[in-house]
Amino acid sequence: MARILITSALPYINGVKHLGNLAGSMLPADVYARFQRLRGHDVLYVCATDEHGTPAELAADAAGMDVRAYCDEQHDIQKRSGEGFSLSYDYFGRTSNAPNIRLTQHFADVLEAKGLIVERVEEQVFSIDDDRFLPDRYVEGTCPHCGFERARGDQCDNCGRLLEPTDLKAPYSKISGSKNLEVRETKHLHLVQTKMEARIRDWVDAATEWPSLAKSIAYKWLDEGLRDRSITRDLKWGVPVAHDGTPRPGFETKVFYVWFDAPIGYIGATVEWAEAGGGDWESWWRTDKGADDVTYVQFMGKDNVAFHTVSFPATILGSEEPWKTVDKLKAFNWLTWYGGKFSTSEKRGVFMDQALDILPGDYWRWYLTANAPEGSDAAFTWEHFQGLINSDLANVLGNFVNRITKYTASKFDGQLPAAGTPGENEAWMAAELDQRLPALVANMEAMEFRKAAAEVRAIWAAGNEYLTKAEPWVKYKADVDAAAVGVRTGLNLVALFGILAQPFIPVAAKKILDAVGVPEDRRSWNFDGPASDLLDALPHGLAITPPEVLFAKIEDAQLAEWSERFGGAPDA
Ligand code: MF3
Ligand code: ZN
Repeated sequence: MARILITSALPYINGVKHLGNLAGSMLPADVYARFQRLRGHDVLYVCATDEHGTPAELAADAAGMDVRAYCDEQHDIQKRSGEGFSLSYDYFGRTSNAPNIRLTQHFADVLEAKGLIVERVEEQVFSIDDDRFLPDRYVEGTCPHCGFERARGDQCDNCGRLLEPTDLKAPYSKISGSKNLEVRETKHLHLVQTKMEARIRDWVDAATEWPSLAKSIAYKWLDEGLRDRSITRDLKWGVPVAHDGTPRPGFETKVFYVWFDAPIGYIGATVEWAEAGGGDWESWWRTDKGADDVTYVQFMGKDNVAFHTVSFPATILGSEEPWKTVDKLKAFNWLTWYGGKFSTSEKRGVFMDQALDILPGDYWRWYLTANAPEGSDAAFTWEHFQGLINSDLANVLGNFVNRITKYTASKFDGQLPAAGTPGENEAWMAAELDQRLPALVANMEAMEFRKAAAEVRAIWAAGNEYLTKAEPWVKYKADVDAAAVGVRTGLNLVALFGILAQPFIPVAAKKILDAVGVPEDRRSWNFDGPASDLLDALPHGLAITPPEVLFAKIEDAQLAEWSERFGGAPDA
C-alpha cells in the first residue's frame, strides 16, 4: 500500500469558479484520488480556498462587505459546490486560517535567517488622494508592452505579461480613479531567488515524472533568469509580516504577497486536517517524520505551473528543512467556451453553482473528464455536451443497466440466474476485458484522463455488443438456460461497469452497485485474475432491484433554454 498526497490548485476566493477551473484542477485531482483509493492506497487529498491578496479585497469591496465576512461566505459557497460535484477532499481548508499564517511566518523567518529574504527599498506607486500605496491590482494603466489601456498593476490581461505597477503608463487608482499618483520609496521584503537558481534547476532536472508541459514552463522561467521578487504588500488582508509580538519598523501595515502564502496553504490545510482529528500531518509533509515514502501529486492549470515548479520550490528548498516536494505534476490547458473565454460579465459560460442548478454533478464530471483540456485546449459547447451525455451516459451505460436489471426482475424473479454454461460470446467479452482493463488502469496511473474515460466508454460499449450477440431475450423462448447465461453475464457486467464508473461518476456508480448488491468491500479496482472470473463473480440467486433511471437524456428544448441563459454559439 502506497501513501499518496494529492493537492489541487487552491481556488481563489473572489467568487464562484467556472467549469474550466473545475476541469483543470479540482475534478481530475478527485478522479485520481478516488482511483488510488480504489486501488487500495492510503490517499490524502487536500485543498483550500486561496483567500488573500488584492482580488479578495476588491471583490469584498464590490460586494460591500468586510473582507473577512466576504471570505467566510465565499468559502462556504465553494465548499458546498465542491460537495455538489462529489469532490472527496479529506480536508477543504482556508489559507486565512491560523495554521497557514503560522507556517508562512515560519518560512519567512527561516528564509531570512539563511539570507534568502532581505529588506529592500522599493519604488512604489502612492495615491495622494487615497493616502496609501497602491499594490498590484489597485493600480491600472496602459500596458508598456502592448498598449492595452486597462492593464492591471500585476499583469496585462491582453498580452498576459507580468507587470510591476510602476511599469504602467498613465496609471490611475482603482480605488478612486485618481490620477494624482506619484512614485515613493518604501521598504519591502524580497525573496532572493537569484541565489537559488542553480538549486532549483538541479531539482527540476531531477524531476522525472513531470509531463513535458510542466518541464518546459519551468525551464522557460529558469532560462529567462530568476529575478528577486518582492514578497510583501501594503494591504490589510493577508498574513502579517510582523509577528510574535516583535515589532518590525516600516512593516506595521504590510502583509505577505498572496503567492507567497498560497502554496504554503497546502501544508496549512493538512495541519487543519490534523487538528480536526484527521491524523499526523508531519508524516505527509516532513521527510524526517515519515513522508519520505509519500508520493506527492499536484494538479493545476498551466498558468499555475511556474509558481509550483519555481516559486514555491524556492520557498521550500530555500528553507533547507526536510519538506516533501512534488513528485508528479499534472498540468492542464484551458477549457474554453465555444473557443473563447468564460466571462461572467458577458454571460458566457457556466459557473459551478449554476451547473448544479441545471444538472447533477455526475453529468458534468463525465463530460469534463472525457473532454478534459489535457493535450490542448478543449472547447465546451452545449451541442457536444448533449451528444456525449446522451450517448455515453443515457444510452450506453444507463440503458444497459436498466434493460438487464428489469429483464431479471420480469423473467427471473429478480434473482441472478445460476443455470447454463458460458460459451463463445462470454469468451469474447472476457477477451475484451483482458485487453482493456490493464489499459484503463495504465491510463489512470499515467493521469491520462481522456484516454481513461475513452477506455471506460469502450468497455461499456463492448458490454452492449455482448448483449447484442448473446440476445437472452430471443433465446429465452426456446432455451431458458441459454438466456440465463446472458442475463447472469449481463448482471456481472453491470457490477463491473459500476465499479469502473466510481472515480468518474460516483453517485450513479453507487446506485448501480447497490442495485446489484455489490458489498462495499468488493468495489475496489483489483482486476488481477482472468476476466472470465469477473463475469461470474456475483453470487447465484442474488436479489436484483432495478435502479431508478440513472441519466435523463438532454432534450433539445433544454439546450435552447441553457444557450439562452448562459450563452451558446457566438453567432447564435
Ligand atoms: N488561486 C490560484 C488560482 O486560482 C491558485 C493558487 S495555487 C496555490 O490560480 F498553490 F498557490 F495555492
Ligand atoms: Zn499588454
